[in-house]
This record gives sequence, C-alpha cells and structure tokens, in this order.
Amino acid sequence: MISTSDYLQLLPKTELHCHFASTLTAPLFIELAAKYGVELWATDPEELFNFDDLADFLVAFRAAHDVLREPEDFERVAVEGVRHAVAVGNLRYREYFINPQYFAERGMTYAEVIDPLIAGLRRAEREFGVGFRIVVAINRQDSAESAVELVRQVIAHGAPEVVGIGQDDLTPEGTEDPTRFVAAYRLAREHGLKLTAHVGETDNATPDAVREAIEVLGCDRLDHGYRIMDEPSLVELALARGIAFTATPVSTTICSGWVLDPSHRIRAMIDAGLKVTLSTDDALFFRTDLGREYREGLTLLGVDVDSAKQIAVNGIEAAFCTDAEKSRMRAEFAAQFLALDALLAR
Ligand code: ADE
Ligand code: ZN
Repeated sequence: MISTSDYLQLLPKTELHCHFASTLTAPLFIELAAKYGVELWATDPEELFNFDDLADFLVAFRAAHDVLREPEDFERVAVEGVRHAVAVGNLRYREYFINPQYFAERGMTYAEVIDPLIAGLRRAEREFGVGFRIVVAINRQDSAESAVELVRQVIAHGAPEVVGIGQDDLTPEGTEDPTRFVAAYRLAREHGLKLTAHVGETDNATPDAVREAIEVLGCDRLDHGYRIMDEPSLVELALARGIAFTATPVSTTICSGWVLDPSHRIRAMIDAGLKVTLSTDDALFFRTDLGREYREGLTLLGVDVDSAKQIAVNGIEAAFCTDAEKSRMRAEFAAQFLALDALLAR
C-alpha cells in the first residue's frame, strides 16, 4: 500500500512550463558558476534562492543565464535536469522555455543556443525516454521589433523541436502588456507555431492581460493565467476555446504571496472545469520540483486523487507534440494509473 503523497509523487507526469535555466540542479549551478568565475548574488544557499517578489526574482534569473556558455553546459543541464525530474516526479514529457534574448546580450547567436539545447535534450530523451519540445520565449524587457526579429530567426532556423513562442519576464515598466508583441505573434501563427504567454500571474497583473492573450494574440495555452478567476466572462471564453493553463502552485506562492489553500485561484480554475496542468516554472529558484507541485501543491489546494489524474492527463492533451506521441502517453499513463490505483490505501 502507498500513501496519497506517494501516489501523487509517482503519478506519471508531463511538464509544459519550465524555463531551461531553472531545470539546473543547485550543485550544477554552483559548479558552472565556479567554472566561469560568475559571481552569484549570494554565497549562502538560503540567500541564493530567496526572493521578495517576481521582479526581484527576474533579475537573478536573467543573471543566472551567464553560467550557460558552452555546448557541454547545455547537455549537462539537459541530462541532469531530466534525470532529477524523473527521479522526484516521474516526468514522462517536457516542454521548455528558452529566452534567446538573454543569451544574445552575452554575444550568443540563436543557433549557438538552440542547437546545443536540442542536442542535450535529445540525449536526455535517449537516456530516460522523456520526449520534449521547445517554446521560444520573447523577452518582455526588449522591444516589439526585436520580438519580430526573434520570430524570424525561429522560422529561418527551422528546428522541428521548436514548436511555439511565448513571452516571459516583465516589460521595463514592470507590466505584462501581452499585446505589445502582437506582430511577433501574428508572424509566428502564420508559420504554424503554437502560441502561449505568461499572463495573469500575480496581483500586479490584470485579468485584461488574460483576455488580450486569448482574444488579441490568439494563444492556444496560457502560462499561469490565474487572474482569469477575477472575471467570470473570461472563464466562459477559455472554456469555449479549450484554452489550457500551466499552473505552478508552489512556485507561484513565492512570487505572488498568495496562500496555497482551497481558496486559491488555481483550485477555483480546476473547479470551474478549466484545463489546468501543473508545472514547476522555476524549480531551482523556488526550491520546488514536479513531485512537490503535485504532492504538496495539490494537497494544500484540497484537490483529490481523481482530479490529480485528470490534471496529469490534461498535461498530455495540452502538449504541443504530435497526436502519435499523445496516444502513446495516454496508453502509458492509463497503465500506470491502474497500477497505482491498486496500491493506493483509500
Ligand atoms: N521567467 C522565468 N520565470 C518567470 C515567471 N514566473 N514569470 C515571468 N517570467 C519568468
Ligand atoms: Zn514561467
């Protein structure tokens, strides 16, 4: 027999919202910083991963990209990151955000980032059987024109593993303002790329950003999107369009200050029937992992195991991979659910 906590940890999972740099393990992060003589913002591990709010975190997150320089760094992060996520959360498939503009400011070209990233993730797939896709994130610190240029690079480079675009960070004004990048999104959609965006993440965000991401940008999926619950008509819209959400309960608690309990917006989103999936977002920085997001996150939200299974299945349905891969995962997840159900002490 196994406990509910073990059951949630062992459930097969996809992860559709994690930033590649945040899949670094802490020892590897510190090792790579030493390799390049990168001075981190703190030496005490307690301080290193302590942030006041989203804006405070984003400064450190951006700086952390300085430890990723050579192809072998990307490969090690990819392989170690997947190994860890399989061990602690039974990860079966993952989609990564990469923000090439963070690397461009360090003199690295798009190809110098994407090619080793793909090579590393392919190796991780061979070793652990964890499939993957990449979503290129527009850096909201940068201009609308540079976002269009980035999408042009994605299209010209043409890697089949890069299946979509998103937007992360905050604008220089500290807002989400998704429509600033409407031209980049239009271009991406014309070339068959999938669309997502970080919106409605904290109290500083607005439900309007969620509406704009759906109505103006035409997003297929939304990252966070919690402020949707502040506007009932938006819930109807998202249900009608089948929009999926990548929620990150433990990570978000640190950024938002919201208490993780049954009154949380993520629980309301699940109860409203929205297609909620779970991810870590920034596991390294917020000291979380995929197992913890389910085990601790769902337990504190008061979500039962049947809903947990539905959330895991949502993570297949909302993925930006092929139907054949989804079919394979559905069958694999169903078999593992049966085995776990037989073990669960109800
Ligand atoms: N980049 C990495 N994590 C992020 C988050 N939670 N919000 C916006 N941008 C991010
Ligand atoms: Zn994110």
